[in-house]
Amino acid sequence: MLVAVAAAVAVVDTAAAQEIAGTWVSQEVDAEILGREPQHVRVLSIREAHGGLIGRLIVPTLVGIPVAVEQHGDHVRLVIQMARGMETPLDGTLTADRLSLASPGSTSPPAILRRPSAEELQVLERLAPKKLSIPTMKALPPNGLARTPPMGFSTWNHFQTAIDDRTIRDVADALVKTGMRDAGYVYVNIDDGWQGARDAHGTLHPNEKFPDMKGLADYLHEHGLKLGIYTSPGPQSCAGFEGSYGHEAEDARTFAQWGVDYLKYDWCSAGLIYDDAEMPPVYLKMAEAIRAAGRPMVFSICQYGRADVWKWGADAGGNLWRTTGDIADQWQVMSTIGFAQDELAPFAGPGHWNDPDMLEVGNGRMTTAEYRTHMSLWALLAAPLIAGHDVRSSAPDAVALLTNRDVIAIDQDPLGRPGRRVVQRGPLEVWTRPLAGKRTAVALFNRGAEPAKIEASFVELGIDGRAGALDVWAERSLDVLEGRIAADVEPHGVVLLVLEPVQRR
Ligand code: GLA
Repeated sequence: MLVAVAAAVAVVDTAAAQEIAGTWVSQEVDAEILGREPQHVRVLSIREAHGGLIGRLIVPTLVGIPVAVEQHGDHVRLVIQMARGMETPLDGTLTADRLSLASPGSTSPPAILRRPSAEELQVLERLAPKKLSIPTMKALPPNGLARTPPMGFSTWNHFQTAIDDRTIRDVADALVKTGMRDAGYVYVNIDDGWQGARDAHGTLHPNEKFPDMKGLADYLHEHGLKLGIYTSPGPQSCAGFEGSYGHEAEDARTFAQWGVDYLKYDWCSAGLIYDDAEMPPVYLKMAEAIRAAGRPMVFSICQYGRADVWKWGADAGGNLWRTTGDIADQWQVMSTIGFAQDELAPFAGPGHWNDPDMLEVGNGRMTTAEYRTHMSLWALLAAPLIAGHDVRSSAPDAVALLTNRDVIAIDQDPLGRPGRRVVQRGPLEVWTRPLAGKRTAVALFNRGAEPAKIEASFVELGIDGRAGALDVWAERSLDVLEGRIAADVEPHGVVLLVLEPVQRR
């Protein structure tokens, strides 16, 4: 998998940084390989642009952009940003024509980079995909879709690229049978791995595993479901399939003809071509192509939360934008992502949502308490609820977690205002989300490994007077509360309440 990305670089020692500026390639690569397979060569390039230094690190197995470069004598430290909130340091030693790079503390041998010759540089430049014309940035009017956060299923978390027509139909049947469709999970999103080749007219076809995309869309529509699909603004998707580079308008028309209702547009190899600062118009270009194709589609922006996407995602036509790197079915990853969303709350609302990535509920590597936290937090955040497990063989408790009516009602609340953290005491956090009808969702989260009592005053919660309360996961009403709330919360668990003011007597 090849990934390349670019962004503004903060330079600590400007004079010295000039030494690292320029292009570096893997030492083990010769001119012949460079000419044949430039996309498989490790390349680091740093140059001046946009009033600073910008960088691009192409590492076949790593997604990264240098967001900081420090140089002290021969020593270099690069901070590589994988995604928002996921930064990895790399320590380097620089000699006249060699740069060795390694993760601090790693026992693997360092990557050795060298300066390419003038001819090799020309080859790299000649083979690099060229920038396409991109529109001048403007604010696209809302498309009227996703007034509440989208709900559905995506193939990626469980199946990755092991997908085909049969699997999608079986998943669709299972969404109906488990009651998930009726609970709101209607988008069936085919992620990376469906793409085939372009024909002589430039039309993109699915690969042999998807013989009839229109037939598949019809099947989903007949079952009260909708079809989502995936492509990239670069020449290749993240998993190396054909991207929409240079074929944006045609692909949007093809998707519209098939009956696609949702498009995820994933940056991936677009980083070979554009700087992060150019992301907004690149996304706008596809959003305009979809509008021109005439079929309404939810537009899902996926660029790992870089370049402050929440500030321009809606203008670029996005109904949702990823705010993080990829989730995994692990407590550490899920909780780190989920609890880092607080400051983005003001940017989301009806039609345009922060997307902390898809759900892992039902994939089996977290405990039920942890999955309850996952669902509660995503509901508090007004996050899209895109299930990511094998729905064909859902365990009953996974379906129960995913279809809890009151949790979904919090997520889908018509006010569309994401929740915020109001209390943080070590590993204990309290979040509130304002709901329609003057109600408030309150989540008491215990991120710690020990059971804990979590308390919050009504002043901290922003609640006046007395309140009736529903304990959502326990599915029972509590006595009227006044002044404060308190609950015992299991490790990695949550108590989720909906409070409703009661009239003073
Ligand atoms: C990126 C995205 C994932 C998924 C894969 C597919 O990693 O962030 O959500 O779409 O690409 O290759």
